[in-house]
Amino acid sequence: MAHVLITGGAGFLGSHTCVALLQAGHRLVVLDNFSNSGPEALRRVAALAGLGVGSVDQWPQAGDWRLRLVRGDIRQREDVEAAFRAGEGAIDAVIHFAGLKAVAESVRDPLAYWDVNVGGSRCLLAVMGRLGCRTLVFSSSATLYGFPDSLPIAETAPVRPINPYGNTKAAVEQLLADTAASASGWRIACLRYFNPVGAHPSGRIGEDPSGVPNNLFPFLSQVAVGRRPALQVYGGDWPTVDGTGVRDFIHVMDLAEGHTAALDLLWSEPPQRLTLNLGSGRGHSVLEVVRAFERASGLAVPYVIAERRAGDVASSVADPALAAARMGWHTRRDLDAMCRDGWAWQRANPKGYAP
Ligand code: WQD
Repeated sequence: MAHVLITGGAGFLGSHTCVALLQAGHRLVVLDNFSNSGPEALRRVAALAGLGVGSVDQWPQAGDWRLRLVRGDIRQREDVEAAFRAGEGAIDAVIHFAGLKAVAESVRDPLAYWDVNVGGSRCLLAVMGRLGCRTLVFSSSATLYGFPDSLPIAETAPVRPINPYGNTKAAVEQLLADTAASASGWRIACLRYFNPVGAHPSGRIGEDPSGVPNNLFPFLSQVAVGRRPALQVYGGDWPTVDGTGVRDFIHVMDLAEGHTAALDLLWSEPPQRLTLNLGSGRGHSVLEVVRAFERASGLAVPYVIAERRAGDVASSVADPALAAARMGWHTRRDLDAMCRDGWAWQRANPKGYAP
């Protein structure tokens, strides 16, 4: 059992990772400013983990805790320090999810992305270094590969981001490299996610984007549940199997398990900094996802073929071999499971976590 600080732990990926970590027996402190999430997700995480209903009150709280919540911002040193205090000085590792992640928004407001994603990471690392906590799993992204020269994409592929969001992810990876080189003892894993989708099979937690979803899967889910009239398929003339974009979708629970595996690897080996793709190695087109979602929901999903979206690539598929070799991790859930579980969440929560 270890004490793990999860920044952004109330978000889509963070909440699912919290479930996996609690089931692995760890104690968690979540630091989140609820800019794109809320405490309800964590209350449901606690219930899924079999914890008492009142177990996610704002810290400080008494009792034999398994999950503590500190509401705060990673850019504020005092908030990050409060999260470490909530761990009673015993934080063994940090999983760093907190950040902004919408590509189009990053183009409109790059300063916000550099402030939160890079400035926030710098603040977190400074506090970690001062407190002697030097084990970190970083939520990176396949976006930083930009337009790939070839497929599948291995970790050795050039880092060539094409938008401010990707630039900030590449910048934080560089910050981590410099930090690891500056002092001994750092154990760092940069996990480059491809396309995480779906939900916990219980249907109790899932993806709940604020506003109009940027990404395919939540938008598709909201069309199916009747919140949106139709899906716009961005491009029908890509050089792919059916003309629509191809991506490497992975079930969010596979991704969550990739984080527990990364922590286990870091704790079992000497200090190192490693970079791993989290992907399935299999691509699916947008229309293949639509068909799979229709099978899972039993509903027809109206769509129109629209213009290509600026900044999109035709295909993006991971080479997942290194994660398999280094931590014995690979995806175990297929596209039908992603759609089945994603639909179970959306159908049971048409408005997400909103009451
Ligand atoms: C997938 C496919 C679209 C919406 C982005 C980030 C990446 C990660 C995941 C954070 C593409 C098509 C989409 C729609 C569509 N996020 N599409 N209609 O762009 O691969 O990756 O989100 O880390 O970093 O870059 O994901 O879901 O937006 O798009 O046709 O309404 O679906 O063109 O082919 P993407 P996406």
